[in-house]
Amino acid sequence: MFIQTLLLVITAAALATCNPSCREREAPYVRDYFYVGGQYVSNGSGGHIFAEQMYVEQLSPIAGATQPYPMVFIHGQGQTGTNFLNKPDGGRGWASYFIARGYEVYLVDQTFRGRSPWQPGAGAVEPSTYSAEVIEQRFTAPQLYDLWPQASTHTQWPGNGTIGSPVFDAFYASNVQFINNATYQEATVQAAGAKLMDRIGKPVILVGHSQGGIMPPLIADARPNLTAAIILLEPSGPPFHNAVTSNSSARPYGLTDVPLTYRPAVTDPTTDLVKQTYPAPANATEYLVPCTLQAETPAPRQLVNLAPKPILLLTTQASYHAPYDYCTAKYYQQAGCTKTEHLHLPDAGIYGNGHMVFLEKNSDVVAGLLRGWIEKL
Ligand SMILES: *[C@@H]1O[C@H](CO)[C@@H](O)[C@H](O)[C@H]1NC(C)=O
Ligand SMILES: *[C@@H]1O[C@H](CO)[C@@H](O)[C@H](O)[C@H]1NC(C)=O
Ligand SMILES: *[C@@H]1O[C@H](CO)[C@@H](O)[C@H](O)[C@H]1NC(C)=O
Ligand SMILES: *[C@@H]1O[C@H](CO)[C@@H](O)[C@H](O)[C@H]1NC(C)=O
Ligand SMILES: *[C@@H]1O[C@H](CO)[C@@H](O)[C@H](O)[C@H]1NC(C)=O
Ligand SMILES: *[C@@H]1O[C@H](CO)[C@@H](O)[C@H](O)[C@H]1NC(C)=O
Repeated sequence: MFIQTLLLVITAAALATCNPSCREREAPYVRDYFYVGGQYVSNGSGGHIFAEQMYVEQLSPIAGATQPYPMVFIHGQGQTGTNFLNKPDGGRGWASYFIARGYEVYLVDQTFRGRSPWQPGAGAVEPSTYSAEVIEQRFTAPQLYDLWPQASTHTQWPGNGTIGSPVFDAFYASNVQFINNATYQEATVQAAGAKLMDRIGKPVILVGHSQGGIMPPLIADARPNLTAAIILLEPSGPPFHNAVTSNSSARPYGLTDVPLTYRPAVTDPTTDLVKQTYPAPANATEYLVPCTLQAETPAPRQLVNLAPKPILLLTTQASYHAPYDYCTAKYYQQAGCTKTEHLHLPDAGIYGNGHMVFLEKNSDVVAGLLRGWIEKL
């Protein structure tokens, strides 16, 4: 009885919304940090600097890992590895969730971001920043702007998601500048990520969010034998062009801006990848955009290194990704990744989430779905 009551109390506490003054302690862990990748380059006037290295935090359960696969988390644009530490409402984040369940967790700051240094002029004349209003529109309060049909269903962000709300302010304060150069960003994270895989030295689960969702296929392509599985949280997409916020061309290699290994080989993606646009599937409840994939003839080129990997692509109900992530999942499947699953949260009975799902009120519930998938690998 006492135990049951205690469990009820603990469960209620875990589900309650926190705020920045109600701080839950993170799960205990041992922390190490290191830098991977990078090289000495000329400073242009006789000396040298070290460039393109990536900051990594290794968080290990105190009693040692009990799960076979470490998890490597790669944040999205304007963000850093703090995304997976405690949440801006003070609650426990996904790093704690998985550490408490026996996983070794690695958090990176992408190259040129956060604690990973940037040499002025490299990749861009100056860094870019998202305004608070863009973050409200796309991430924390899409329901107030209604820029895509599913936006109105957003309910899971703690607080009203706008300037002046303590949770929003805590989150926006954690946003940092970024170097807006997709090819340079992807090439350097792929190179440093491959070094990180070598250092870990056993198969890992690569988890990428948003712009960071471009990185797991690139790192896995470089180190297929060190990749156990890939989890993509609303990865940048859909293939070949943007959607919803812009329709501009992007990702000429389908999923990425830099080369992936296809068979037959792709030398010039604009001609070698023959594209075809398929109409949006008839779908009474969701607004979906048309989908550009490879044509069926000639036979679609195959992502040979990724093909055997279990891939889970997660999409929330209210995000700007809801209209197009289905197409990114189809691209993987068509290119030979037959173990790709699209987890659309409403289909699992989880409603009201936006793009920053791992910071929202029900983040543990969503983490539980991922854990269920991982532990069946
Ligand atoms: C490059 O390194 C040289 C040798 O240390 C130094 O004299 C020079 O000031 C450096 N240039 C810049 C731009 O920092
Ligand atoms: C991106 O960065 C690379 C490496 O610094 C540079 O060569 C390239 O010109 C940059 N691209 C753009 C569009 O600025
Ligand atoms: C959100 O909450 C903050 C703090 O209570 C308040 O200042 C702000 O006006 C609210 N914004 C909206 C759009 O309701
Ligand atoms: C992966 O392992 C297989 C079997 O051991 C081996 O043949 C292959 O060369 C390895 N691939 C890489 C990229 O290391
Ligand atoms: C993208 O294209 C669609 C279909 O033509 C159009 O409805 C939409 O307004 C465009 N979006 C942007 C941001 O240009
Ligand atoms: C609508 O499309 C989404 C995305 O493909 C899918 O997850 C959902 O199940 C579909 N809903 C219906 C009613 O078919």
